[in-house]
Amino acid sequence: MSKYSVQAIILAAGKSKRFNTGTSKLLEKLCGQEMILYPTKLLKKLNMPVSLVIGHQAEEITKCVEEHIHTPVSFVEQKEQYGTGHALAQSQATWNHDHILVMNGDMPLVSEDNIKNLLEKHYASDAAVTFVTAHLPEAAATHYGRVIQEGKTVKIIEAKDITQEHQDSCCINAGMYIFNTKFLNQALDLLENNNNAQEFYITDLINIANDQQQTIETVSVPFDNVRGINTLKELWMAEHIKRSELISYWMQRGVRFDVAQSVHLDVDITIEAGTKIGAGVHLFNGTKIGYNVTIEPFCIIKNSHIGDNTTIYSHSVISDALIEPQCAVGPFAHIRNQSVLKQGAVIGNFVETTRTTLQAGAKAKHLAYLGDAHVGSKSNIGAGTITCNYDGLQKHKTIIEENVFIGSNNTLVAPLTIKKDSYTAAGSTITQDVPAQALAIGRARQINKEAYAKKIAAKKNNRSEKKEVNEHSFLGAIKTSNDSLENS
Ligand code: UD1
Ligand code: MG
Repeated sequence: MSKYSVQAIILAAGKSKRFNTGTSKLLEKLCGQEMILYPTKLLKKLNMPVSLVIGHQAEEITKCVEEHIHTPVSFVEQKEQYGTGHALAQSQATWNHDHILVMNGDMPLVSEDNIKNLLEKHYASDAAVTFVTAHLPEAAATHYGRVIQEGKTVKIIEAKDITQEHQDSCCINAGMYIFNTKFLNQALDLLENNNNAQEFYITDLINIANDQQQTIETVSVPFDNVRGINTLKELWMAEHIKRSELISYWMQRGVRFDVAQSVHLDVDITIEAGTKIGAGVHLFNGTKIGYNVTIEPFCIIKNSHIGDNTTIYSHSVISDALIEPQCAVGPFAHIRNQSVLKQGAVIGNFVETTRTTLQAGAKAKHLAYLGDAHVGSKSNIGAGTITCNYDGLQKHKTIIEENVFIGSNNTLVAPLTIKKDSYTAAGSTITQDVPAQALAIGRARQINKEAYAKKIAAKKNNRSEKKEVNEHSFLGAIKTSNDSLENS
């Protein structure tokens, strides 16, 4: 990127105590991406060698980074967590560049420009250290370290050590620094933990530079860019900002959101122009939406492709599926597990598909379960049809060739092939293959019993007459017995 030699260290070993989840906050996701991947991807994008200091859940963090970052990242262990200064010290053996950029792992909203500006200022001023600050009016109620600048003096006081005198200071330390390596090597030996937390603070390095009258520079950025995430509430607030950022990004590219504040988008999705997204829609990673698609309210789409001019009606759930252009799905449909709808296919309400392909123009418009099925082009699946694909041991396929008419309420027992241009009668249980152009009827033959209603009516009459007689004799019996009591 430049003539300057710089490497980056990300501090990611902390215990995340304030999250109260027991797990590392850096593995929590914002818009579908683990927090640790935000700084790591950003610094890799800027072509810097990157090392992560890991400790708490080291294995899980390493796995997550290695799975998602495909260029080398190195890892350094901080076995016991004695503070951010101690974390940085663990990476000392890896320092082989003139400048060391250090970033907290819990700041996912930092932009490329924020880092570029920090580097520029640092190189231009030849400072011992340059760090990022932000203005936060309500700083007194937060955990941020406060930056106190008086004349040429610059100090950082941690929230736990703040005195009344500096309580109202609104300039906060963002947690992103670039050090001259020579300065850093000598200053690191001077770090102590004589503070209220009994930790080695990275922020004391600024105080050491100040005491040594070294050049210290600061770069101020908007607070939202450098929010540190220490609690689940702060994660929620940061995700809200990230989500709004993503929505504005797609809006600028011609995507219409009806109730934008209610929509959730993950980072790894794409949406083409002219598409409309309704209220409460959730689009998760791996989703690609084409041009002029309508996604009605409360749909959930995960890792699926939706082709141009398709409509997904409300409350549909689609995962790991491929839907080609001009299809219609829902309302209340569930398309999942490698299901494919070819061009112009229609899936209606309360239809579930799994590992099923509907060829072009095929339809299943009402109340059906299609599992491990292949539905040929222009075939029509009647309401209430079920493929019985599982025999308790394994799954079997149902092949329905093109232009087949499956009557309503059919039970298709797989393995089964229904050849092209054939019909099945409504209410059939189809257990055998159906030849092309045939009509398969798989149900009990209907028998009409003539004058049945008259016979029933006669039986009813007969019964009610008998009942009357019985009731009289019963009352009579009581009377008789009362009489006999009175007379006794
Ligand atoms: C830190 C700064 C504070 C700043 C704030 C910005 C210090 C002492 N304080 O506070 O001035 O305003 O960030 O958000 O640096 N970590 C380790 N090992 C440890 C401790 C922490 O690797 O022993 C890692 C954490 O995983 C985290 C990062 O360092 O990614 C920052 O630690 P955190 O506990 O969040 O520091 P803050 O209290 O937020
Ligand atoms: Mg923090």
